Amino acid sequence: MTQTMPAPAPAEAQTAQKPLLELWHLSKSFGGLAAVSEVDLHVYPNEIVSIIGPNGAGKTTVFNLITGLYRPNAIKNQSALLARKFATLATRAPLLLGLWLLCSVAGAALFQFIVVPAFNFIFSPIVNFEELIGQAATLVITLALGFWVGSNAFFKGVAGRGYWGDVAPYEPDIMGYTSNIIFDGHSLVGLAPDGVLKRGIARTFQNIRLFNNMTVLENVQVGMNARLRADLFSSILRLPNMTGEEKKSRSRALELLAFFGPEMVARQDELVINLSYAEKRRVEIARALASSPKLLLLDEPTAGMNDAETADAVKYIRRLRDEMGLTILLIEHKLQVTMGLSDKIAVLDYGKKIAQGLPAEIQNNEQVIEAYLGRKAAV
Ligand SMILES: Nc1ncnc2c1ncn2[C@@H]1O[C@H](COP(=O)(O)OP(=O)(O)OP(=O)(O)O)[C@@H](O)[C@H]1O
Ligand SMILES: [Mg+2]
Repeated sequence: MTQTMPAPAPAEAQTAQKPLLELWHLSKSFGGLAAVSEVDLHVYPNEIVSIIGPNGAGKTTVFNLITGLYRPNAIKNQSALLARKFATLATRAPLLLGLWLLCSVAGAALFQFIVVPAFNFIFSPIVNFEELIGQAATLVITLALGFWVGSNAFFKGVAGRGYWGDVAPYEPDIMGYTSNIIFDGHSLVGLAPDGVLKRGIARTFQNIRLFNNMTVLENVQVGMNARLRADLFSSILRLPNMTGEEKKSRSRALELLAFFGPEMVARQDELVINLSYAEKRRVEIARALASSPKLLLLDEPTAGMNDAETADAVKYIRRLRDEMGLTILLIEHKLQVTMGLSDKIAVLDYGKKIAQGLPAEIQNNEQVIEAYLGRKAAV
């Protein structure tokens, strides 16, 4: 019945610590192209882990899967899946099943006794539902809507909490996917990017994505939205708690800029468009930090930088781990960055993980030299 994935066998010595991030047989195809294929990876708290590999190896796709921009490949037999979900639920989390039933009944009642009469009342000169389609049909529709609302609340979870993912975090086949992504003990699969951000994973992009016509400080403050508490009502009226939040967010953004040195603080009111490439990269990291993540994903953070800027980036990436206690997953082409910085390196080639190990092991791995260094040298 319910099948559990065999545990991936990580190359590193098994530590007593629990991994912060686990990729289980991660797969993603685009049409016929297997961009990522059965990749297993464990990232432990406070590690700096690098993903390297030739162009098109699938590195960015791994980030896009983790952050919810893409979903892993779905499994084919959806109807068998539903039955398995309910069977698992009934045995493992009967209370949750009860909650789902309650949500469904409450949803149906809400529609039947409040929404439909209200609708009929407002639109009675034009249309009366019961008269138009009959009482039985209205009842069926409202029940269906109620169950739909209830199911969504349950399977997707309220506010991205993903109840279902918490019931079966290690069973991707029950989740409906061939792979799984576990963060801090919970599955991320099915969460939208903002849900992933709220759980504590922030990222930067291979091609910097900043608001060019906003200031440095405003760009960093954008990252704080995931944590801001002020609601729409108080923001419109600019109630005291809103201005309070704004002040807090400003001072936090300045604190984050100060991490990169006084010259970044001095440029707080500069429009991003006027910054150098290296400075933009810093602002993008500061924006990611603004959401107070536990795990930071950096996609080629030194691309386009000269040697001095690269050396500087290596220093602050290490400080992100040492001073801020972050765990970092890094995609990087430059060997002088990955080799000096990483606790562990995973190598992708044509979507598959072909090697994993300490930097020195990777440097001497024949397959890696052939796939990565060899092909690059040939180019
Ligand atoms: N949305 C998409 N639709 C179709 N194909 C895609 C999509 N995203 C990525 N791919 C393909 O998947 C493969 C892996 O791409 P990906 O961007 O993950 O590679 P990468 O390792 O990050 O490469 P690079 O070092 O050039 O950044 C490539 O062949 C790419 O063309
Ligand atoms: Mg890429």
